[in-house]
Amino acid sequence: MDIFESLDAIFQPKSIAVIGASNRAGKIGHSVITNLIDSKYEGPIYPINPKEEQILGLKAYASVSDVPGDIDAAVLIVPAKFALQVTKECGEKGVKGLIVIASGFSEMGKTDLEHEMVKLAHGYGMKVLGPNIVGVLSNSDKLNASFAPCLPLPGGAALVSQSGALLIAMDTSTYTRRVGFDKLISIGNMSDVDFGDCVSWLDADENTSAITLYIEGNRDGRKFMKAAQKATKPILALKSGISAHGAAAAASHTGSLAGAAKVYSAAFQQAGIVQATDLNNLFDRTLALTLQPPLRGDNLLIITNGGGVGVLATDAAERYGIPLTFAPKDVQAELKKHMPEFGSAKNPVDVTGMAGTDWYVESCGYAITHPWLDGLVVLYCETAVTDPMEIAKGVKQAIDQSGIKDKPVAISFVGGERSDAAIRWLVENGIPAYDAPDTAINAMAALREYAKIKENAAGATEYKTSGNREAALKIIEGARADGRDSLTEIEAKLVFAAYGMSVTKNILSTSEDDAVRLANEIGYPVVMKIVSPDILHKSDAGGVKVNVKDDAGVREAYQTILKNAKAYKADADVHGVVVQEMAPWGTEVILGSVNDPTFGPTMMFGLGGIFVEVLKDVTFRVTPVSPVQAKNMLTEINGAPILEGVRGEAPRDRKALADTIVKYSQMVYELADEISESDANPVLVYEDGKALKVADARIILKKK
Ligand code: COA
Repeated sequence: MDIFESLDAIFQPKSIAVIGASNRAGKIGHSVITNLIDSKYEGPIYPINPKEEQILGLKAYASVSDVPGDIDAAVLIVPAKFALQVTKECGEKGVKGLIVIASGFSEMGKTDLEHEMVKLAHGYGMKVLGPNIVGVLSNSDKLNASFAPCLPLPGGAALVSQSGALLIAMDTSTYTRRVGFDKLISIGNMSDVDFGDCVSWLDADENTSAITLYIEGNRDGRKFMKAAQKATKPILALKSGISAHGAAAAASHTGSLAGAAKVYSAAFQQAGIVQATDLNNLFDRTLALTLQPPLRGDNLLIITNGGGVGVLATDAAERYGIPLTFAPKDVQAELKKHMPEFGSAKNPVDVTGMAGTDWYVESCGYAITHPWLDGLVVLYCETAVTDPMEIAKGVKQAIDQSGIKDKPVAISFVGGERSDAAIRWLVENGIPAYDAPDTAINAMAALREYAKIKENAAGATEYKTSGNREAALKIIEGARADGRDSLTEIEAKLVFAAYGMSVTKNILSTSEDDAVRLANEIGYPVVMKIVSPDILHKSDAGGVKVNVKDDAGVREAYQTILKNAKAYKADADVHGVVVQEMAPWGTEVILGSVNDPTFGPTMMFGLGGIFVEVLKDVTFRVTPVSPVQAKNMLTEINGAPILEGVRGEAPRDRKALADTIVKYSQMVYELADEISESDANPVLVYEDGKALKVADARIILKKK
């Protein structure tokens, strides 16, 4: 049986056994049978209970082995201590997949039991959903194999939730929020079926039009990213638990700046996943992503009958990354014909409080067809002279009659019960409608983000290395042979250079005379630094002298550096003093890498100095980083204008910087088994065309 066959059996079972079914009301085993019956499940239901003849009118069996027909999925609602025995019985019966509602596994430390259950199940070709879950719900399959109260409001979304409680909470709220779901899938401990499996399966499911994820943590981040990258449907994720993790023990800058939030955001971007900020946002964005096409450009037009809501929407558009521009003159001239003289045809288009249905219909019908327009937001404030339902129906008709299907529309009606009824009607008729203008704009922003990240994620899988892995490994092996788990600066720069990065010239000196000779060879001024695997923070140890200008200076610096190093750490293993080319001043940036527990080697970019120390103005990516993603990283930090050239300064060489990010990412990706953390800090970036230099480098190896 292949994975998909077993997943089909779990998500769309043709027959289902409920092990631990009960006649006692209030028990989960009772509720699941009730739900299967109430949801009008069409396949056979086999309640399994050793003591009962019948459960809720259905014939009960003592064991799955007594069931006469085939069983696609078995729902396990017996205490965890019976899990192995029941799994074995299911396997022998030929059950295809297990839905394990029971708790009492890894979530309370019984990881071995969970692993054993999965191993046993796999031996019979069964996949395991759970344990510790609420179950599976599917409108299109009339399946409520869960103890959630009811099937959700029907619609095109599918929710995969790691939290059972959140799934239950969302289930009934789908009715009050009017956001329709076809499936709700609880994945609990993810002992086997994980987010990656669910995304792949749902992407192929004809009843799912958008996938919504509630993620607490994820084990195989790379598998998840691959599944999402391949998906053709919008995916929206809400990630909780975003406080920093692992930061305390970090030995590098990057380590202290990496947190789940930043790394997950990076992974979402690279995998083409849109993010939600909270539960409300998850519902609002799900609605838009299930009902509307992506927003493929930035030209958003707002049509409103109220200036106030128009301004609020304008502010929101800027906040959510789709700032408004004025419509072209011809669009303005045409729109002017469909409003009173005191209206405004700029953007927002204010058809004024006097606007009746006709003016909305005419302006929406015209605007949506104009090639300039990429998306339309219609705002309405309830007035005594208008009927919200009539306007809703008019706008919908205008959109339908235009024949345009590839430009998204979102609506906000602000008012009382009549507006609320109009909102409901619009949603039921395929247009996302909200009760606040900024929510409608946020929905549009989700459609814009979806279009953008899909574009950026395309091509991210093409990979061509520019590194010499063998040469890098040799240097690492040399350090390991010395019994070290960090490289010296010289070694680290050699590894960087093996991956094609431009590093400052540096040569190790082991005596004062040697240092003078090398300084003359490199050319004054030079930088001198202590080389010791025991001194990672060289400046703190007084082990760095910059701008050393002559032979006498070299001699003095050599002595001072050694004296300081001895005072800092008397037993430090000192290899000597490195003499370095003093790179000219450039804009300081930092590159770095850490190994994330979920996504593996992950890299960071930011401006150096105060930007990284105080403002933590950095951005992350899971490696390898594609050229497109590297370019995006440069624009994502708040300090981006500094690279673009501010106050008359020439722009920095962003092409060289993006190229170095790609190379750096290849280095940490290909040496993932070796490198634990690394930094290039500072990297000095020069004017356009003048490239950059890595001035200092640090590599900390994985302990072996
Ligand atoms: N095969 C079939 N039925 C069996 C059985 C077996 N091997 N062993 C026991 N049963 C029957 C019991 O007789 C009982 O039926 P009854 O009500 O007719 O007596 C039924 O299965 C349930 O067993 P019981 O021992 O009463 O357990 P329970 O109902 O109190 O609890 C769980 C079982 C699975 C619900 C409980 O262990 C559990 O894990 N609860 C948490 C579930 C949860 O919260 N999930 C995650 C949500 S996010």
